[in-house]
Amino acid sequence: MSMISVTSEGSFDLEIEDIASDKSISHRCAIFSLLSDKSSVIRNYLRAEDTMCTLEIVSTLGAKIEDDGEVIKITPPKSIKEPADILNCGNSGTAIRLFMGFLSACKGFFVLSGDKYLNSRPMRRVADPLRDIGAKIDGRSGGEFAPLCIRGNSDLEPFDYESKIASAQVKTAMILAALRARGESAYKEPLLSRDHSEKMLSAMGAKIKSDDRGLKIQPLKNPLKPLDIEVPNDPSSGFFFAVAAAITKDSKIRLKNMLLNKTRVEAYKILAKMGAKVEFIKRDSKYEDVGDIVIKSAPLKGVEVSENIAWLVDELPALSIAFGVASGKSIVKNAKELRVKESDRISTVVENLMKCGIKVDEFEDGYEIEGSEFKSAQIDSHGDHRIAMSFAIAGLLAPMKVNNIDCIDTSFPNFIAILSKIAICKEAE
Ligand code: S3P
Repeated sequence: MSMISVTSEGSFDLEIEDIASDKSISHRCAIFSLLSDKSSVIRNYLRAEDTMCTLEIVSTLGAKIEDDGEVIKITPPKSIKEPADILNCGNSGTAIRLFMGFLSACKGFFVLSGDKYLNSRPMRRVADPLRDIGAKIDGRSGGEFAPLCIRGNSDLEPFDYESKIASAQVKTAMILAALRARGESAYKEPLLSRDHSEKMLSAMGAKIKSDDRGLKIQPLKNPLKPLDIEVPNDPSSGFFFAVAAAITKDSKIRLKNMLLNKTRVEAYKILAKMGAKVEFIKRDSKYEDVGDIVIKSAPLKGVEVSENIAWLVDELPALSIAFGVASGKSIVKNAKELRVKESDRISTVVENLMKCGIKVDEFEDGYEIEGSEFKSAQIDSHGDHRIAMSFAIAGLLAPMKVNNIDCIDTSFPNFIAILSKIAICKEAE
């Protein structure tokens, strides 16, 4: 199916247990398991296209993967195997950038590539700082675009690097290089980006110190402890349904077993600021805070979003549907990073909201939306899973057709099955 139509069925009260597993943590589970000498055990791994590509790469690099359909056991190889073919990262910026950092320090020749969307996203933000410490990376346009070739070596210099962008992918690539460098490294970023890597690697025994000024990373003396983890559900995926509840009169949704890391739930806090009722019910877990999130509808008012943008890049498309029906204006600023995601999310949000009859002004680093009534439209996802899902949710406001929806499988294969519980979803032409 590559086009879907979505129409509202009125109010709902739903508990959702099967929001997709966290994508960021799943990628990290697969890659970090290669830093141990024992088998890692992973439950609730995300079975979506992107994270399955990552698992496939880990297997190609020599790991043994045992999968009984529920639990995935990854036994790392004694040393990383040089692959006979390219390593396919699919649509995933996280996979390609994390593997750039990891493979830079592994002996061998590696070629990383992905789909046409991934191969047009910027890579020098990772390639340049890695090259500065001795990594041998090449690619199109001086290493800006994949396919990327890496000739790994075990002689990386330690570094003191201050990144201009708050990016968890850049940070993690540099941490993975630092763990195999010749001395202690330091990494700083303008705002704390999602911090799963520091948390997970520290729990595995890596010596990573963090404070508000950044990270200090000691090289590994020994292999790390294996992971034994249940991946929580993904708050970025759950957020589509949070917006669904917020914009549908008299509706409520309870999202179960969600990751509650503060760098990942900012969009829920913005929804609360707009007037929706949002409650976090926290439970501790071994690696991260986990719990339920309850969202209830209420009249929404416009807001300005100009801070903590790194905590919102994945959720701004869905949040923009809420801005579109809120009373008054909403403004998004300082969000230039949105232009280099799976699509240029500033222009794809603006273009599609305009098709829905919403007044939007586009800026270089954001947009301004004047809330009003949505009208029925045909949406182009531009191959971006989060644009496809956001505008499918807009179908609760006015009937929507969304094309090119196969991309949803990169992160949330059961999205339409869940949406079908609260809306009429049909294959369309
Ligand atoms: C991710 C980091 C974010 C996010 C992406 C996943 C990660 O990108 O947009 O979907 O798992 O590290 P940044 O590199 O901009 O932080």
